[in-house]
Amino acid sequence: MTAEPLEIYLEEQDLERGLREDVRAGLSAEQKWLPPKWFYDARGSELFEEITRLPEYYPTRAERAVLAERAPDIAALTGAKTLIELGSGSSEKTRLLLDAFTRRGGLGTFVPLDVSVSALRASTAEIAADYPGLRVRGIVGDFTRQLDRLPTGGRRLVVFLGGTIGNLLPGERAGFLAAMRAALEVGDWLLLGTDLVKDPSLIVPAYDDAAGVTAEFNRNVLHVINRELGADFDPAGFAHVARWDADHEWIEMRLRATRPMRVRVLDLTVAFATGEDLRTEISAKFRRAGIAAELAGAGFAATDFWTDPEGLFGVTLAQAR
Ligand code: AVJ
Repeated sequence: MTAEPLEIYLEEQDLERGLREDVRAGLSAEQKWLPPKWFYDARGSELFEEITRLPEYYPTRAERAVLAERAPDIAALTGAKTLIELGSGSSEKTRLLLDAFTRRGGLGTFVPLDVSVSALRASTAEIAADYPGLRVRGIVGDFTRQLDRLPTGGRRLVVFLGGTIGNLLPGERAGFLAAMRAALEVGDWLLLGTDLVKDPSLIVPAYDDAAGVTAEFNRNVLHVINRELGADFDPAGFAHVARWDADHEWIEMRLRATRPMRVRVLDLTVAFATGEDLRTEISAKFRRAGIAAELAGAGFAATDFWTDPEGLFGVTLAQAR
């Protein structure tokens, strides 16, 4: 089948308004910050794909190992008719699930949701071509906002992979899980990928690779702001920093000014002192008990938890109750 036309709930102008609001709030704060979702223009999505192939970046390989082993169980346990993927990107790992559901039979519809039109166009076309008989409905949207637009009817499985939930601050995470639960019915399923707490000597290089791809990915947010908002950031004036926050058990990515700079953006003039940081991402790492507790707090029961053989990455299956 060919993919259906993309359903667009997030228009270009909504995206730009969101970017303007985030830039205004984040760059006028005492501790400057930007939300990580603005990394992912076409170039940023490409750089992220490149990151997933780096020797230091273990999460993608570890999660793929879990899914390769457990996809048949996930298909059997959930018996889903509709598979919804939040923040789907290229949907590369999701194919392991689609393969298992195809062998088992019964899955009718695949609904990938992503903010990136370019990534969705490519992935929906490829998946529709490779899975004849599967209805493919791509939704352009923000997974923190468009949850009320998820298709209804038939047992649903929502998958949220890659550890992307770790990009949310703890309060945002609770709000997101509650909204997710509200969008589902009792008996529907959630499959959640989370990177796990481990020795920081393994985590930090995953966010500060030798080839410098993550540094370029990090600086890409400045190129996005220059292009979309006509700002005049000099990305070369910022150094890439990845640091482990042991209290919060998360990685922070920052851009550190290497000299004093004044940046014109919107109607702001933003001054950076030498050594001043702009926080661009947190990527929280989880423990099994913490995941189960957060899910329970939102109205889900964690029924299964699997890791790769090395115990690097966790995949939790939970049911709305
Ligand atoms: C796509 C959010 C899961 O946090 O590991 C990769 C993004 N940032 N390298 C992550 C990312 C730096 C990634 N997620």
